[in-house]
Amino acid sequence: MTKEEFQNLAKREIEEAKKEVSQVVDESSLNAFKGKYLGKKSHLTSYYALMKEVAPAEKKEFGMELNALRSALSELLSAKQKELADKALAEKLEKEKVDITRPGYHATLGSKHPFYAVIDDVTDFFLGLGYTVADGPEVETDENNFELMNIPKDHPARDMQDSFSLGDNLVLRSHTSAVQARVMKAAKGVGPIKVICPGKVYRRDNDATHSPEFGQIEGLVISEDATFSNLLETLTLLLRHLFGEKREVRFRPSFFPFTEPSVEADISCFECNGKGCALCKHTGWIEILGSGMVHPNVLRLNGFDDKKYRGYAFGIGIDRVAMLKYGIDDIKRLYTDDVAFVEQFRKE
Ligand code: DAH
Repeated sequence: MTKEEFQNLAKREIEEAKKEVSQVVDESSLNAFKGKYLGKKSHLTSYYALMKEVAPAEKKEFGMELNALRSALSELLSAKQKELADKALAEKLEKEKVDITRPGYHATLGSKHPFYAVIDDVTDFFLGLGYTVADGPEVETDENNFELMNIPKDHPARDMQDSFSLGDNLVLRSHTSAVQARVMKAAKGVGPIKVICPGKVYRRDNDATHSPEFGQIEGLVISEDATFSNLLETLTLLLRHLFGEKREVRFRPSFFPFTEPSVEADISCFECNGKGCALCKHTGWIEILGSGMVHPNVLRLNGFDDKKYRGYAFGIGIDRVAMLKYGIDDIKRLYTDDVAFVEQFRKE
């Protein structure tokens, strides 16, 4: 074969290859193209075999022609490879495109339930005064709930708290005062004690302001020098913390079996500022909590020397505080799983 003849052959081969590569659209047609023009059974390979028959003097030039043909074919192949890769990338980018100009979704934030907002608020207040948080079970012994709180069986005060009896001397605790007994017994007669006990309590009561399940926060301080004025000062600070610094606080004599003397605290009505309105039932005052000096019997019954130790205690209704603070008219609203209700209290 002459050089010209080979050049013509090579030219036709390249033209054919160009035509064919333009039909290549994917990996498999690309592989077929590669096999046909550059593989073992390609024309190119057979041309290399022809080298044997080429006269030694022409070998070099023939070889150069062959190499030129091979690189021309290889270029077609790699150009196509790149074209396919670019196309694949462009498709992928198009498919995964994120439109950053689209408006976002509004994620709904959770919000603290007013019941727990009150617990947290009161707990923070007392932690700041050096109190710790104590806890007790909701299924309580008759002893802790009543006897050790100076409410013996058949005592008329049991009627004040219509409790749910569970038999076997167990009750659903009717007040968090039951935790007082637990804390005092655990201290084995050694003070000081300074605790609050938030939790659920249960009574057979059911109307717009009473729910069979509700919450209280008990407070108990026992030390050698606890005084009645310490108690009044503590509660005044608490009530102003909860309802505003301008609130006036008034204490009225009351009765609880576990305290002597006992008082109830009222705040001046924050709705009418004491003038009289529906919220304060036209008295100008809102009743808020019960408290008193721990009864000597309670100290003794729970292992404390009532000659050495004195104490004060208080009990706040969580629901009542939440209803007043957040303007909730029916206590049951606090016990329904109504998202719209809770969302009112979300702080944006
Ligand atoms: N346990 C009382 C109740 O449920 C509330 C109470 C009153 C708690 C006076 C006290 C207290 O600790 O001293 O009605």
